[in-house]
Amino acid sequence: MTPPLVPPIKCQGIKTKIVGAIGSLVQTTVHGRWIEPFCGSCVVPFNVLPKRAILCDSNEHIIRFYSDLQSGEITSASVREYLSEHGARLKRQGEDVYYEIREQFNRVPDSHAFVFLNRACFNGVMRFNRKGRYNVPFCRKPERFARAYVSKIANQISACAELLRSVEWVFQTAGFRETLALATENDFVYADPPYAGRHVDYYNSWSETDEQDLSGVLKKLPCRFVLSTWYENKYRKNPNVEEVWSDNEFTINLFEHFYHVGSSESLRNSMTEALISNFSAKIKCENKTITIQPDLFESIADEDVNGVILPA
Ligand SMILES: C[S@@+](CC[C@H](N)C(=O)[O-])C[C@H]1O[C@@H](n2cnc3c(N)ncnc32)[C@H](O)[C@@H]1O
Repeated sequence: MTPPLVPPIKCQGIKTKIVGAIGSLVQTTVHGRWIEPFCGSCVVPFNVLPKRAILCDSNEHIIRFYSDLQSGEITSASVREYLSEHGARLKRQGEDVYYEIREQFNRVPDSHAFVFLNRACFNGVMRFNRKGRYNVPFCRKPERFARAYVSKIANQISACAELLRSVEWVFQTAGFRETLALATENDFVYADPPYAGRHVDYYNSWSETDEQDLSGVLKKLPCRFVLSTWYENKYRKNPNVEEVWSDNEFTINLFEHFYHVGSSESLRNSMTEALISNFSAKIKCENKTITIQPDLFESIADEDVNGVILPA
């Protein structure tokens, strides 16, 4: 199996390890534009590869980053230069350099600094405080930007930039209601909202009202959609899945996977994710092993995944 194209920026709930399964649901059904109201890292479109897409997020830093990559404002070479220069300073002077760049970014946001912070912050998460300031602490690895790591990021930038030259994608900062209003009959919507009650920050304050509004808008869409959400974990079940999506019009594909909390093998937790669609389709992911980031500051090792489909 071809490994997924990994984007240069990371975010909570990134779907790198399940893009194959998402792709297997949608590949023959996209005739118009791919519309993604919560695009995050953009790992899904970078692997599904629609020709035309509208990729939106309420986080303007993500959208600025991809717009800059598309226009050539940032390139693989400029990112390599930035990370090498500031990575060398980080190694010499320590964490003060990280906090200096974070302070500068919060005054004047900039895509090079965004990549630096995203790849040097604690646990690789993107989090902003209530005033919209990036507030993730340093990962405490002053040697973070070793030559091999900088090359890996520069190669990811290069692969994504090359792909962007061959497609017609539009990046926009927008709330999901505005984005979904653009959908017409032949489009395809992939929606991966924040999970209610988790990852709460400036760009991810997802309320029950948002959840209800999103399901209402999805149900009225004139086109096909796939919604990603959580189904259950060790402690609770997401009541919305069965309450909102259990009628015959919708197909619910479930992924059960296991993740490790902390370092020990014995700390294995199970989580079931759902892919809900308004058309009939079955994911192809039997007997795979994947890793998903289940929560903000938890570290994870391998997960076992089994795809099952709920009877309609
Ligand atoms: C679970 S993440 C998407 C992850 C993405 N599918 C990936 O694989 O990288 C949810 C995204 O929704 C964005 N978001 C949160 N609230 C939003 C809203 N009201 N409208 C649009 N985007 C929103 C967040 O900034 C975040 O990037």
